[in-house]
Amino acid sequence: MNTDLFEIIRTTRSMRRLKPDPVPPALIRQVLEAATCAPSGGNMQTWRFMVITDPAVKANVAQWYRKGWHEVVGPRYRSSAPAPGASREKFDRMLAAAEHLADHLHEAPVWIVPCLVGGTHTRTSGSSIYPSVQNMLLAARALGLGATLTTLYLLFEKEAEAALGLPEDVHSYAIIPIGYPLGKFGPVGRVPLQEVVFGSKWGEPWADA
Ligand SMILES: Cc1cc2nc3c(=O)[nH]c(=O)nc-3n(C[C@H](O)[C@H](O)[C@H](O)COP(=O)(O)O)c2cc1C
Repeated sequence: MNTDLFEIIRTTRSMRRLKPDPVPPALIRQVLEAATCAPSGGNMQTWRFMVITDPAVKANVAQWYRKGWHEVVGPRYRSSAPAPGASREKFDRMLAAAEHLADHLHEAPVWIVPCLVGGTHTRTSGSSIYPSVQNMLLAARALGLGATLTTLYLLFEKEAEAALGLPEDVHSYAIIPIGYPLGKFGPVGRVPLQEVVFGSKWGEPWADA
């Protein structure tokens, strides 16, 4: 296990090509413990996490993800400019990996689906679940497991959440497929601080970037 926090942060990439091999529940438990260490508004912890391994449930939900990718998101990204700082070639590699995930999502051995119970589902509510999601991504990386934060199934939110079997007052915020990665972990690609950090005045560079 890698325990250098900053090294883990720098190398927690979306790992979209996963082996179908099972993941020991003890490791998933560690990932979930990391999730519940995250902050939530007022420490209310209205989060619930589904650990989905049932092939029938995964297949049923994955059809909506696949549809979202092939009909909407894939074509949109293919006709758009690359992500900031990425060459066309690098961006196309990312799209190929994203398409692979869309076609193989149901084969990931474990999905964790973070949900919130009750309340309104807004930017504020999201703030009480995404810290737990990032903790899970970092914990998975530390344990040598690949994972990706995915939300595009929400294009078909009603259908996908029905397939997940969620009660009326519960909403999901992501599907995180987890498994042993086929590829290698490596550094994330991001633009330098100078391009995204301002000082006290909007648009003015922060002197120490
Ligand atoms: C809010 C959010 C939603 C995302 N949804 C998806 C998704 O549905 N499918 C997917 O393959 N990746 C998804 N991603 C992963 C991003 O595409 C990825 O983090 C980004 O390209 C940077 O790449 P990296 O994580 O490998 O550094 C999502 C990320 C975020 C933050």
